[in-house]
Amino acid sequence: MSDRLFIFDTTLRDGEQVPGCQLNTIEKIQVAKALEALGVDVIEAGFPISSPGDFNSVIEISKAVTWPTICALTRAVEKDIDVAVESLKYAKRKRIHTGIGTSDSHIKYKFNSNREEIIERAVAAVKYARRFVDDVEFYAEDAGRTDNEYLARVIEAVIKAGATVVNIPDTTGYCLPSEYGAKIKYLVDHVDGIDRAIISTHCHNDLGMATANTISGVLNGARQVEVTINGIGERAGNTALEEITMILKSHHDIQIDTNINTQKIYPISRMVSSLMNMPVQANKAIVGRNAFAHSSGIHQDGVLKNMETYEIINPKDVGIDDNSIVLTARSGRAALKHRFSSLGVELTQEKLDKVYEEFLKLADRKKDIHDDDILVLAGAERTLNHRIKLEHLQVTSGVGVRAVASIGLNVSGEKFEGTASGNGPVDAAIKALKKIIDRKMILKEFTIQAISRGSDDVGKVHMQVEYDGQVYYGFGANTDIVAASVEAYIDCINKFANKD
Ligand code: KIV
Ligand code: ZN
Repeated sequence: MSDRLFIFDTTLRDGEQVPGCQLNTIEKIQVAKALEALGVDVIEAGFPISSPGDFNSVIEISKAVTWPTICALTRAVEKDIDVAVESLKYAKRKRIHTGIGTSDSHIKYKFNSNREEIIERAVAAVKYARRFVDDVEFYAEDAGRTDNEYLARVIEAVIKAGATVVNIPDTTGYCLPSEYGAKIKYLVDHVDGIDRAIISTHCHNDLGMATANTISGVLNGARQVEVTINGIGERAGNTALEEITMILKSHHDIQIDTNINTQKIYPISRMVSSLMNMPVQANKAIVGRNAFAHSSGIHQDGVLKNMETYEIINPKDVGIDDNSIVLTARSGRAALKHRFSSLGVELTQEKLDKVYEEFLKLADRKKDIHDDDILVLAGAERTLNHRIKLEHLQVTSGVGVRAVASIGLNVSGEKFEGTASGNGPVDAAIKALKKIIDRKMILKEFTIQAISRGSDDVGKVHMQVEYDGQVYYGFGANTDIVAASVEAYIDCINKFANKD
């Protein structure tokens, strides 16, 4: 008989900590519903004490989903737990995730404390949380660098205090797979009462070993994994949900099952990438654009003769369907709605009408519309509340001439125009924009990416602009890459202009 592995998704908490990738509550609900449809067991919906936005998101996600347990993060602090309890009041199944750093460096530098006091604080937090909920998960932050003997004492104490799940994070992504697996096995072998709790993995990818470490943890007794869609997360990210799920699905010898409907993996990967403006690297396992693209002649020949020659996963198993209906200017609202629905996005009639109008404009400029294109359209209304909007842009450029741009901006309802020349069209357009918005801004990062294929493609631009010592992230998408660049720059400016 197969064992069951619980999938704890932290896309909306650890994943959302990526600078510049924050979602609003509506977007978080959209992701949470897609996670529910995907079949995750637990959704970590936020860190309620950290901001009113996080608090509100946990409330709204709790109302919006039914089956998964909703989890809220806290420090080992009573006030945090009180706020988490309040935020979980509408959750049908609820969990508090509380914890404290256990490595010597956390104990000494973060808490200026000692090992015994940390155990006391951990136990007190778990006991306090258990007064409000039956399901309490304890995390031993930086467990990856915590000495195993002491870690086992902490874990034994918190289980005794009522922890139902014990999370062993490799917070810094330092462990080797053999080391992390041995750590889990050490706990299985040395913690009294370990069978009363589920051991959870939580691995970061700083050295590219998050997935390997997680699998090693599972092979040694962990029965919950903490993961994110596309492996997003601070720094190099967290373990990717799609990788763990597909490893277990492909390796029948492991005999561990999850509740994940794998055919929903690709749609949710696209949705998260699009809502968070975080491109998925082309060679990303399972969901990257090249994950199933065979370019060498030998491979193509082999795959055409029999897929199994070079493919260990059928793309259809993760929801990639090459035969899906191609959307064109003649597609109706129903086709568009259906495609959105298969991507996990449910639109109200009003929003569908707006997106459909934009879709028709795009279809006039672009022959085939791909999934990413329409996801960009669905996300476009996030700019509606911007104080600064692009009204028009005209650029002349070419070989042997200096590029000249003229730009029109609407700033809080007032119209402004600027003209400038530059060493290329983007340079000219941004200089023209700076004639209107005269602030000390430094462009730190600028990437252009084509979404699908073809010269009529939509270009996505990601930018980072430094202003007043802070970096702001912006995004633009347009079939005209100069316009997309200016939109991304304006998106950055709006992030600090909206604060003024
Ligand atoms: O990486 C980590 O240690 C965490 C904990 C807060 C669970 O995210
Ligand atoms: Zn983490």
